[in-house]
Amino acid sequence: MSTWLVEKCKPFSNFVEDIKAKGLYSYFTELEETGIHIKVKGSELINFSSNDYLGLTHDPRVIEAAKNALNIYGSGLCGSRYVVGTTVEHVRLEEKIADWKGKESCIVFTTGYQTLLGTVSALLVKADDSVEENIVLAIDKLSHACILDGCSLAVGTPLTRGSSKLLDGQIRYFRHNDPVSLESIVQSSVNKGRNVMIIVEGVYSMDGDICRLPEFVEIAEKYDACIAVDDAHGTGVLGKTGKGTAEHFGMEDHIDLLMGTFSKALGCVGGFVTGQKDVISHIKHKARSFMFSASPPVSNVVSVSTIIDIIRTEPDHLQRLRSNEKYFKTVLKELGFDYGDSATPIVPIIIGDSEKTMYLSQKLRENGILMLPMVYPAVARGEERLRCTISAKHTNADMDRALDVLKTEGRKIGVIN
Ligand SMILES: Cc1ncc(COP(=O)(O)O)c(C=O)c1O
Repeated sequence: MSTWLVEKCKPFSNFVEDIKAKGLYSYFTELEETGIHIKVKGSELINFSSNDYLGLTHDPRVIEAAKNALNIYGSGLCGSRYVVGTTVEHVRLEEKIADWKGKESCIVFTTGYQTLLGTVSALLVKADDSVEENIVLAIDKLSHACILDGCSLAVGTPLTRGSSKLLDGQIRYFRHNDPVSLESIVQSSVNKGRNVMIIVEGVYSMDGDICRLPEFVEIAEKYDACIAVDDAHGTGVLGKTGKGTAEHFGMEDHIDLLMGTFSKALGCVGGFVTGQKDVISHIKHKARSFMFSASPPVSNVVSVSTIIDIIRTEPDHLQRLRSNEKYFKTVLKELGFDYGDSATPIVPIIIGDSEKTMYLSQKLRENGILMLPMVYPAVARGEERLRCTISAKHTNADMDRALDVLKTEGRKIGVIN
């Protein structure tokens, strides 16, 4: 046993224990029932912290499809997609997503996180696995961890980067959702003879704001940059038919790479990338998080496939989500709460103070509502908030209950008048 390992880990472990002792630790809640109406330690709670936007995780058709797949394929495939982890159902799902998104080709990863990690790093290697030093990655300052990690991995890809030098400034950050800031990066990079890959999120997960895609596309087209959109929170939620952020802006034909995850509106786990077939083929054969990780089980694959069919044929789920979002935000605003630039079912209730945010989350919990607090360092100081998400499965009574507690307790501590 080492002499230093436990000592090295103690400071942070002590920090966590201290927060727990103060009763302020609200993570890793052990759920006994899941969905929008959940059970914890025998008590029912209304879940306002889930990304199950369309509320389809418990749809009987999805469960039936998964059960059938379990009977045929068993619990797992015990291999990567390359070896024994590709079934006819994986390929059918890829074809279905490509068709849904209006793209030539698609590959499915085991998680959304791995999708970004694998895609970005694969595009920074050449066909012969040598380093692609001529591409600059332009990313938003508020990018999700998987984009940040994907870029870091890309510029330091094991084996390929090996002894080679890292190129200065290969990852460039632009101000959040700011086309002017992006353009100055793209322009200066192109002037130095570099190709630029712009990576944005369709919807930003902490603030629920939508990316300024038309302006970003205009910049991409002006400078021959490629544009990749991680539409984790837009897929199933935005656009006339729920196809996502590109549909919302009518820009499906202007996006080089469209990515997403199955872990939000698609109610499962996994991720996908769609685009032109040569680009997808390159990613398929170069993405290490795709090649060296086990394939998602077929029960999961057919569940995603069933949920996509439901989204494509039953618009009422999306309509209900939109009317719930409108109702909740209208009352929230009337009460005097601030939800920033949210234009989606991600509703950050900005409190601006750690203790008050923790207090409200605790009071909501005592009143049967799960709405988790986000405090520093998850968000900047002064931007502490309750991260609330609305689902099509919330009833008006669910939302009224949450709004009532917010009103009473928010007044008590002076967050609203
Ligand atoms: C913008 C964004 N991209 C990617 C991911 C990762 O997806 P997954 O949880 O499916 O790995 C998330 C998940 O939180 C996300 O918010």
